[in-house]
Amino acid sequence: MTDPRPTSAFHAANTDPAVTDRMVAALDVQAANPGVRRLREWAHARLGARPGERALDVGSGTGSETRLLAAAVAPGGEATGVEPNPGLRAVALQRAAVDASPARFLDGDALALPLPDADRDVVWCERVLQHLTDPARAVAEIARVLRPGGRVALLDTDWSTFVLHPADPEVRPALAAVTRATAATPDAGRRLAGWLSAAGLSVDELGADVLLQDPHAVAWPIVRALGAAAVGRGLVTEEQRDRLHAGLTAAAEQGACHLSVTMFAAVAHRPR
Ligand SMILES: C[S@@+](CC[C@H](N)C(=O)[O-])C[C@H]1O[C@@H](n2cnc3c(N)ncnc32)[C@H](O)[C@@H]1O
Repeated sequence: MTDPRPTSAFHAANTDPAVTDRMVAALDVQAANPGVRRLREWAHARLGARPGERALDVGSGTGSETRLLAAAVAPGGEATGVEPNPGLRAVALQRAAVDASPARFLDGDALALPLPDADRDVVWCERVLQHLTDPARAVAEIARVLRPGGRVALLDTDWSTFVLHPADPEVRPALAAVTRATAATPDAGRRLAGWLSAAGLSVDELGADVLLQDPHAVAWPIVRALGAAAVGRGLVTEEQRDRLHAGLTAAAEQGACHLSVTMFAAVAHRPR
């Protein structure tokens, strides 16, 4: 049962190959971001997947974390990525083959995981909940498939923390509104612990990192998409958008451009 309201390119209903290519490129850029790398490393260390365990990666995208989990649970374990987007699943399968990784990938939805109760020792779910209109239900599904004593790591962005500088004060509220509209649940990052507790899981540790872009680069695809959406929604004029772009370009030339967003993580376990 797929979440019915597509709100972003990352929604499961977006299966256009051109969109998939853009998603893969975006995921690869994000995977290289030092903040993403640090928070992933932190969360994997706390999750502590061990040889022989059964791992699940919900909304596995290109499968980068499924492959890491597969390596951690070898020998004797199993790591499965559940991913509803066929294009992303194909990329994940291809990359797993190139790496000779035993990671497996299943079609499925976070809201109705294709696994029996108490089937998994560890679950990873990164930047998926923000794309769902009912993320609490997805966390309840994760709790269902975790065995008693099993562990889970949730990682998600909180789009209210998006900062773009320089931007005229009258343009900033428009950018903030557009940024929040890119996800169905833009404040997912701050809600992770609450969803885990509501699902009967015990929260062990919280973490965060800031995803900073290079101050010498404007990160144009994001900035252009935000500018276009703000103009499209009548929140800023074309002239204001052009001034924003010019200001950012000039700042980037001096290494003074700032673009950041905070990503949060929560690690929890299912009580025995
Ligand atoms: C921003 S990407 C994150 C991918 C990967 N977890 C990562 O961090 O690299 C969001 C992922 O959520 C998946 N997704 C969207 N809706 C979903 C749903 N209802 N159930 C499971 N996955 C979903 C998308 O197809 C995409 O792979």
